[in-house]
Amino acid sequence: MTRHYYTIIDCDPGIDDAMAIMNAVASDDICVKLLSTVSGNLSIDNTLKNTLKICELLGVDIPVSRGASSPLKRQAVYATMAQGTAGFGGYQYDEVAGREISLQGEDAIHYYLHDTLSKNTTIVCLGPMTNIAKLLKKYPEDKDRIARIVFMGGSKDEEGDVAPYREFNIAYDPEATRQVIASGVPLVMIPMELGHIAYFDKAEQKLIRRMNALGKTFYKMFQNYNDYHVGRLGAAVHDSCAVLYLSFPEIFKTAPARLELKYYKAGDTEYGYVDCSLTKENKNALVCVDMDIDKFKTIVYGNLAKFC
Ligand code: RIB
Ligand code: CA
Repeated sequence: MTRHYYTIIDCDPGIDDAMAIMNAVASDDICVKLLSTVSGNLSIDNTLKNTLKICELLGVDIPVSRGASSPLKRQAVYATMAQGTAGFGGYQYDEVAGREISLQGEDAIHYYLHDTLSKNTTIVCLGPMTNIAKLLKKYPEDKDRIARIVFMGGSKDEEGDVAPYREFNIAYDPEATRQVIASGVPLVMIPMELGHIAYFDKAEQKLIRRMNALGKTFYKMFQNYNDYHVGRLGAAVHDSCAVLYLSFPEIFKTAPARLELKYYKAGDTEYGYVDCSLTKENKNALVCVDMDIDKFKTIVYGNLAKFC
C-alpha cells in the first residue's frame, strides 16, 4: 500500500534544497502542498526566487509562500560562500516564470503554513526554523496537526574546528530551534554528519550531467558549491537526506535522542547549537545516525531520471 505524506517543505534554496525539492516531487508517496521559503542560505528574496525557479525547472505548480526575512532575534548571516552569490552555484538565470502566493496585509509567514496544515501533516524543514517557530507561537494549537517535523540540522557529535559544531540551519536562528524543540512536536533530526557521506564526487556529478537537461542544471549548480566540511570532495546534498527519510526510512539507521538547544561563547558572540544525547533521559526526537549511501544515490539517480 502506498503511504501518502501530506507535506509542507520549508526551505532556503540553496543548491541542496533544490535537489531535495526534486526528490520530493519525484516521490510518488509525497504530496507537497506548499513550499514555504525562509531566509538562510540567502536573503528571502533570493530563496523565494530560487524556489520559484526550481518549480519551473521541475515543471510543477506548487504554491510558494514568502517566509521570514531574518532570524527571530539575530542578524542574518547568509551562506553565500557555500552556495554562491545567487544561491545556485554556477547556475545563473535571469527570469523566473512563477509568482509567490501573496496575501495583502496578512502576515503570510505563518498564515500559509496555518492554512495549509491539515491533520497529520509532515513538515520537512530544510533551512532555519524561523517560520515554524512563528507558526507555533501564533497558532499553538497547530502542534496537534503536525504529525512530525523532519529537519536537516544540527550535529549528532561534537565535530569541526569549534566544538560543538555550528551547523548552519541551527546557528542561523537558534532561538527558533529552541522554540520548536520546546513545542513538543515529534522531531526527526537529519544531522550534518549524514551530509558528509551524502555527497556526489566529480565522477558522479558528470554522470548526473549526462542524465538529462535537469542533470545538466544540477551539474552547473554543483560547480562553485563549497560545503565547508565536504569541500572539494564533492557536492554535499544534505537536504535530500531529509526528503528521502519520508519515502525510504529503511535506508536510515535511527536512534532515540534528547535534543536541547544550548549556547556557547566564542569571542563576543554567543552561538547556539543542538546538544544531541543518545543516553540522557526524556528522549524527544529520533536522530538519523547512519544511512546506506549506495541506496541513497541509486534512489536520487532514479528520481532525477524521471525528469526530462
Ligand atoms: O548545514 C547545511 C544546511 O544549511 C543545508 O540545509 C543547507 O542548504 C543550508 O541551509
Ligand atoms: Ca537548506
